[in-house]
Amino acid sequence: MNKNILFLCGSLRAASLNALTMRAAESLLPEGYTATYFDLAEIPLYNQDLDLEDGLPAVMGLREAIRSADGVLWFTPEYNYGVPGVVKNAIDWASRPLFPQHCVVGTPMNGVVATMSATNGIRSLTDLRRYWSNIGGLSVPGPDCVIVNSYLHVSEVDGVPTLDEETQAQVRLALRVLANVIESGASEAIVANWHATVAARG
Ligand SMILES: Cc1cc2nc3c(=O)[nH]c(=O)nc-3n(C[C@H](O)[C@H](O)[C@H](O)COP(=O)(O)O)c2cc1C
Repeated sequence: MNKNILFLCGSLRAASLNALTMRAAESLLPEGYTATYFDLAEIPLYNQDLDLEDGLPAVMGLREAIRSADGVLWFTPEYNYGVPGVVKNAIDWASRPLFPQHCVVGTPMNGVVATMSATNGIRSLTDLRRYWSNIGGLSVPGPDCVIVNSYLHVSEVDGVPTLDEETQAQVRLALRVLANVIESGASEAIVANWHATVAARG
């Protein structure tokens, strides 16, 4: 088995704990899986006037990265009780063109939220699942991977992104359950439903 998971980060800041978690997660992938990365810093704010068939290279690159992945794993903070604009914006670009089938349709997705807060973060994860599922993606419903007090668990040791043992176990589980959904064949059913819906519209 040779499967690929696209890692996306919802924080653009250089010292992002979510970016550190993402880089550390590569060593926790299930056997037979590799990670690819796409940097969302180059994606402009969504503008339908710029959303053309042969459109912006960064946007085409994002769509292709999602389309060619077996699954997507987001690493994102929560901003003001919701998903950061960077994440929502990327999902808006990814969701077009709607027909015949945009790149999110049937793509399994899970999320990891690293937050400085001791109590928040879950709303970012539920937003992510809601947006992804509502446009035809396949969101892993749980368990929730929220790394609270992330500054205590995520660090850089001699230049190496490092998670403590408890957090490694959390992230390993998030990867495992995503892999389970990838291997379940549920994607094919979602894609078939998408096409049935399009056909029913005439
Ligand atoms: C604009 C803004 C809003 C924030 N709102 C929340 C929030 O609603 N919930 C939360 O848990 N943390 C919130 N935080 C704190 C983030 O958890 C913290 O900045 C986190 O480390 C950001 O992730 P990063 O380290 O990957 O950049 C907010 C931070 C910013 C800058």
